[in-house]
Amino acid sequence: SAAEKDGFDWFMRKEIFEQPDAVAASLLSRHTATGALQLDEVRISEDDLREVDKIIVIACGTSFYAGLVAKYAIEHWTRIPCEVELASEFRYRDPILTRDTLVVAISQSGETADTLMAIRYARAQRAKVLAICNSNGSTIPRESDAVIYTHAGPEIGVASTKGYLTQLIACYLLGLYLAQVRGTRFGDEIAMIVRELETMPQHIQTVLDNAEEVYALAREYVDATSVLFLGRHAGYPVALEGALKLKELAYIHAEGFAAGELKHGPIALIEDGLPVFCVVPPRGRDQLHDKMISGIQEIKARGATAICLAEDDDDEITPYADRLIRLPKVSTLLQPLLSVVPLQLFACELATLRGHDVDQPRNLAKSVTVE
Ligand code: G6P
Repeated sequence: SAAEKDGFDWFMRKEIFEQPDAVAASLLSRHTATGALQLDEVRISEDDLREVDKIIVIACGTSFYAGLVAKYAIEHWTRIPCEVELASEFRYRDPILTRDTLVVAISQSGETADTLMAIRYARAQRAKVLAICNSNGSTIPRESDAVIYTHAGPEIGVASTKGYLTQLIACYLLGLYLAQVRGTRFGDEIAMIVRELETMPQHIQTVLDNAEEVYALAREYVDATSVLFLGRHAGYPVALEGALKLKELAYIHAEGFAAGELKHGPIALIEDGLPVFCVVPPRGRDQLHDKMISGIQEIKARGATAICLAEDDDDEITPYADRLIRLPKVSTLLQPLLSVVPLQLFACELATLRGHDVDQPRNLAKSVTVE
């Protein structure tokens, strides 16, 4: 009923707007006043965590894309090699697992069969399994050695939104905790990132306050037959997630690419008027921002419309952007928490305009309990 949806038309839209609270709840009580991480629920000893020599993240769907972001953060902060794998592929390729492998299973529902089978396999090979999960007492955390619960609250919409954002938070916390335990980062540095994480709910709110701008874009592209998404670094998985949302909800052909890969194939798809979302990396010491701009020039030269998501004070992007969605300025690794939000809103609105059932997209289920 509308009452349960707090006046929103869809659970999904309500859940998108709950994201500031969901993120805040998932950060709560997980660090001391000085910013040191305390993850009491991680029942793997600090000694064992110091022995970990490889991390494999396994998940499906949107949770897999959270895992792809996690890789960038975890490897950067901990220097532990981190792979990310689709749960359905994992056990069929004879993966290399030892007691020093940490398998991180990400699942909103905790009931996804592909992910469950993968962790059973990993534990049989003596790897340690840590679950990141939003459903208390569900099967995957029960069968894991440790769990970090996300506190998104129940997610009803089939397409994951607040589940995804809180998974990202749990991944960041895990990465920082490992860095703390292993001493790969100074305490001050960890505390600084934790402080930045604490500012994210208000930044997500700022992005949500501009929803009308995104809805106008959805009206403009309501008849699109194909939409592309480009990103780099941590923005690459965001491009994949943006495309997935559009496929799931609006049934439109959509694909995400790493912007640097354009010239190796996808650029052949560019034609006049094709909308291309570009998740522009923050300006920093690396050259990612400049390289993104050259990618945008390439697609525009071939007639595409560049819809850029870029940070507030990024003036360099302005002449290249046909449409511009502004994001609060945050560090590169945390930007996915903001850049994904307009893409969620876009898919939700466009599917609504096309008359689809956003909460129950055709052919999909909230939790897939068969392999
Ligand atoms: C289903 C849902 C997706 C979800 C995936 C993984 O396919 O439709 O939205 O991302 O399962 O779900 P999980 O509960 O394991 O995160």
